[in-house]
Amino acid sequence: MRLIRTASAQQFDRCAADLLCAQVLAQPGTQVALPTGRTPLGLYASLLGRTATELAALRRAHYVNLDEYLGLGPSDPRSYAHFLQRQVFGPLGIGASQLRLLRGDMPDANAECAQFEDALQAAGGIGVAVLGLGANGHIAFNEPGTPWNTRTHVADLSAETLAVNERLNGAAPLPRRGLTLGVATLRAARTVLLLAAGESKAEALRRLLAGVPDLQWPATSLLGHPDLTLLCSPELAALLPARAGTAA
Ligand code: GLP
Repeated sequence: MRLIRTASAQQFDRCAADLLCAQVLAQPGTQVALPTGRTPLGLYASLLGRTATELAALRRAHYVNLDEYLGLGPSDPRSYAHFLQRQVFGPLGIGASQLRLLRGDMPDANAECAQFEDALQAAGGIGVAVLGLGANGHIAFNEPGTPWNTRTHVADLSAETLAVNERLNGAAPLPRRGLTLGVATLRAARTVLLLAAGESKAEALRRLLAGVPDLQWPATSLLGHPDLTLLCSPELAALLPARAGTAA
């Protein structure tokens, strides 16, 4: 695992954008899985300002959402499909032909997950997984205790995740279940970029850096991944031992 510490929010966003752009250039037309939440907002905002070559590579890539709320369609402003459309696909001009979005509003959610996973694999699997980190160590909607052999599946959300996400959503109630790429799906990504930001992530980060795989801390499933970069925000970097990782 490569650990990068950043000294400012701007540096965090720029570094995340550098890493993502380097991958879409190195893996032309690859499938990129994108997260929601506060953490990637600066990354998404900064993508528009990249070079013409990088923008062309970003527009050539294919995109999937990491997760989605059960029951919410892409036109629902609470859905992750809607979030990504607002924050990334719309501003960058990425058209529907480049998107393969997990839908929360299909009548049979299990069938939707199975078809989604099949389509992902048929198209070569995930080239780049950009992940946020939950305070409880979740990645996508894989909550503590999720088996590590899971592929795309329907998941129960923890009370903690719901509380955080409802606060972010202006207290609008959210579904208690979601659809998510599985732990095995994410571990099979060729490149993983894990974005860690916010003091509430300190314990999850500590568990990750302890290097001990632990089913109760889903992000630790990524330990040993051949191409994993952990990017730390300044407030988290300040909690790390002085010599841990490289500075951006
Ligand atoms: C949600 C999403 C995750 C995301 C996490 C962190 O639960 N399902 O994919 O990584 O929130 O959100 P934030 O970046 O706001 O801390």
